[in-house]
Amino acid sequence: MVAEVVVGAQWGDEGKGKVVDYLAEGADYVVRFNGGDNAGHTIRAGGLELRLHILPSGALRPGTALVIANGVAVNPERLIEELEGLTRLGAPEPRLFISDRAHVILTHHIELDREQEERRGGMRIGTTGRGIGPAFADKVSRVGVRMGELLDAKTLRARLRLSLGARGGVPGRGQVSGLERLCLRAGRRLRRHICDTSALLNRALGEGRRVLFEGAQGTLLDPDHGTYPYTTSSSAVAGAASVGAGVGPRRIDHVLGVVKAYTTRVGLGPFPTELGGEVGEHMLRMGGEYGTTTGRARRCGWLDLVALRHARDVNGLDALAVTKLDVLGGLRRVRVATAYRVRGRRVEGFPASSRALDIVKPEYRVFEGWPALGPEEWASRASGGLEALPDAARVYLDFIVSELETPIELVSLGPSREATIDLRPGRQ
Ligand code: IMP
Repeated sequence: MVAEVVVGAQWGDEGKGKVVDYLAEGADYVVRFNGGDNAGHTIRAGGLELRLHILPSGALRPGTALVIANGVAVNPERLIEELEGLTRLGAPEPRLFISDRAHVILTHHIELDREQEERRGGMRIGTTGRGIGPAFADKVSRVGVRMGELLDAKTLRARLRLSLGARGGVPGRGQVSGLERLCLRAGRRLRRHICDTSALLNRALGEGRRVLFEGAQGTLLDPDHGTYPYTTSSSAVAGAASVGAGVGPRRIDHVLGVVKAYTTRVGLGPFPTELGGEVGEHMLRMGGEYGTTTGRARRCGWLDLVALRHARDVNGLDALAVTKLDVLGGLRRVRVATAYRVRGRRVEGFPASSRALDIVKPEYRVFEGWPALGPEEWASRASGGLEALPDAARVYLDFIVSELETPIELVSLGPSREATIDLRPGRQ
């Protein structure tokens, strides 16, 4: 397999970072194609723990080049900090390529993100406050600044004036030159990484190199297919890999959807299977469900097959990676939503309206739970394959496969690479 896309099938935080790090063994390139530093991945390998927001999750795989492609919005300061953080950890500076077409997140985007949230009041989205919405809004309004312009002092000033002016009024000279200085300094630091990444990736794919496209956020945060308006601002489905990296759709060989064994969501918006009480508390505590980017406690709930069928279809999922199955250990019963009821009517499709999603009542299938085991026990079970899992956990996985009519390729039982059951053809 040459080109594989990994996307989140829920509301983000499915464990894509771990899955991408695992799959990146032997990959030539790991490519980010959407989002910005609103994403957060934690990778644990070789005694190192790395929290990444903007760099791709192949950062701990020596020999794997990292690409930040055109579909990403880049905060250059944060990227530089992340590169410096890698050096401090003793990791070698990665082979990094940044698209000259990627848009830049500027200071005023971050201010505007926070102001807009305040103005929304009760209709707040609960954004990460990283300036994502305003940066992508500038992009589609054609007043954005692109990474290539950080290297081009002549164009930069005019572009900055446009972007600042888009908020109304004429930007002050001091404001423009302050921002210009910051941008040029970042440009000097990142110069050697900035290039045409679409040309690079097309060449690599033509030579049969292995490329992993790493989605940020998740399907239900996608502005078209997610719970609009409670979504992010760049496309988070598999098709976005093609647009956001500048490779044709027929280049993609395989689409893997990452599914947490239960559901979480940060920020506001509908969440039909959300749980309060003891079970939600169990998921929060055992799953360490706190945002990597914002530290916010995530909302937790049961697995939702209505949402997952939608995710399967809009992404064209070939296979699933089920993560955090260990976290459900210790619950007496485990539930899975198989359909919704809206005003007494049974629906199997995922409604477009957030208001409808707020009032649906999930129909649940109930399963026996399985025991809580320690991290070492789960890792050792992983080495025994599916047969070593508790029977009830296997029944749960079989049900997901049969309902979604999609095979599982990876099962993750903990944060380490070892705690992974690899069911990919030829790997068992
Ligand atoms: P924004 O992307 O910062 O504009 O935030 C919009 C919505 O997407 C909010 O509900 C965020 O909590 C959510 N969000 C953005 N990035 C992530 C992520 O990487 N994981 C989970 N939720 C995210």
